[in-house]
Amino acid sequence: MDLILAGLVVTLFFILVLPLFKLYGKNKFIHKCIDVLPGDKWYPLVGSSYSLLRTPVEDRWDAMSQKHSIFGPIYRSWYGPKPSVHIYKPEHIQKLLKSQTQIYKGKNYQAFTSWLGQGLMLGGGDYWRRHRKIIRPAFYAAILDSYMDIFIKHAENVVDVLDKHVGDDCVDIFPYLNQCALDIIAETAMGVKIDFLKNPSSEYPQAITNYALLAVKRMFHPIGQNEFLYGLTEDAKHMKMNLDIIQKFNKKIIADRKLLYQQNKADEFHDSDSKKNLTFLDLLLSYQESDNFTDEEIAEEVNTFMFGGQDTTSLTVTYTLLAIGNHPHVQKRLQEEIDSIYNGQERPVTSDDFSKMEYMERVIKETLRAYNFVPYISRSLVEDIEIEGLVIPKDVSVVVSLYDLHRDPDIYPEPEKFDPDRFLPEISAKRHPYAYIPFSAGPRNCIGQNFGMKNAKTVITYILRRYNVTCLEKPEDIKKSYEIVLKPQSGLKVRLERRH
Ligand code: HEM
Repeated sequence: MDLILAGLVVTLFFILVLPLFKLYGKNKFIHKCIDVLPGDKWYPLVGSSYSLLRTPVEDRWDAMSQKHSIFGPIYRSWYGPKPSVHIYKPEHIQKLLKSQTQIYKGKNYQAFTSWLGQGLMLGGGDYWRRHRKIIRPAFYAAILDSYMDIFIKHAENVVDVLDKHVGDDCVDIFPYLNQCALDIIAETAMGVKIDFLKNPSSEYPQAITNYALLAVKRMFHPIGQNEFLYGLTEDAKHMKMNLDIIQKFNKKIIADRKLLYQQNKADEFHDSDSKKNLTFLDLLLSYQESDNFTDEEIAEEVNTFMFGGQDTTSLTVTYTLLAIGNHPHVQKRLQEEIDSIYNGQERPVTSDDFSKMEYMERVIKETLRAYNFVPYISRSLVEDIEIEGLVIPKDVSVVVSLYDLHRDPDIYPEPEKFDPDRFLPEISAKRHPYAYIPFSAGPRNCIGQNFGMKNAKTVITYILRRYNVTCLEKPEDIKKSYEIVLKPQSGLKVRLERRH
């Protein structure tokens, strides 16, 4: 009997106590490395990020964005019980982002997994590698060019709506640009004509917005990192309600499109001549046969494109208008470039036109620097890394502040000044290769960069061919809210005057 008891005690020791010792040892090492770094006061389990939740929503971004100026180039924070190290200097960023092994997203994105699953944005390791390889061709130039008709149609819709506001004292242009971007991404990604611009109260886009807001709130919540405890909150219920709406909508779209695809036979989709008018979803369906993509994987990727492609493009246009609406000389020069291509005609924009828009390219680049609206990216470390003699241990998330990088006065003198000529080729060439990375860099850079740029250039061209835009607020007075991307809290108020 004694022997059996002894055996039981030893077994229990190995099953229960040993892992706890191991966890303690690991945590001790993490603490040893992290506790030497500066950062906000923190409490066990609750962490430090909770303090942001006490800050009024409208002031939260201002509080977040000051941390590097308070704590320096490397500091730490705790999201609940999970530690993060924050960096922004190009040499430090390069070490992390160019790695082929540090390709796992930071744990703070967990809040988005019920929507995006293991799709390109959040997946990691070999799973992500396989998806990235399969999906890369969907972003080849020829495919993107086939979306030009869709970009044009929606750019025309948006100027038609704006026409009604010519002569008004002021119009908030942001909701229109947002609706236009959603219409474009829904049509290119899924082949769905939502017509959100004309029907802004539809349920699906609202559900996306609500879900994203709740997910960001969850990121900073002390129990947000604990699936079980968070599941008991009211917010979790609302998140689930919105997710159900999104998933029901997607399921139907995918099923309908799959039927259509099967009717049209797979070979046609592989034939490069017939790639015109294929949506991302069609391409994914064609990969389903060649690469064993499951329905679930397809749904995750469609959601990922909807997430990655909407706000980013509308914000590119919004912040460009904020910049040029405050800098008439930049606007004038941009219009001269546009006029030299179109001679006052409103003919459809073509992809070839973009190669003649050198100044436009610089203006957008400077916009993405000055109003860096994807302010942070993060990685969860799978092995220790060393930065400036400090060890950042495995399992810690490293948050890269692109926002602070792009406003570092050591790299960009007078960072508040809007100056597209910072991106003249000879000036750009002198900068560190990781000094300008609005689309991130390394193996996990943005796959939608060219899609976003072509889309934004089309909409900006349509707007500037028709109107002079005056912005009624100064960039420094625009309050922003952090929703993974930075949105202007009160939209963008402009005055439109018809040209010609
Ligand atoms: C136009 C402005 C855009 C900006 C500034 C931007 C920025 C970024 C950044 C910074 C990342 C890296 C995130 C990270 O490392 O954690 C990223 C990744 C990504 N973006 Fe974009 N993006 C833009 C447009 C788009 C568009 C239009 C799409 C889709 C159509 C898209 C889809 C994605 C996807 C799927 C990823 C994940 C790639 C991977 O990890 O393999 N993005 N984007």
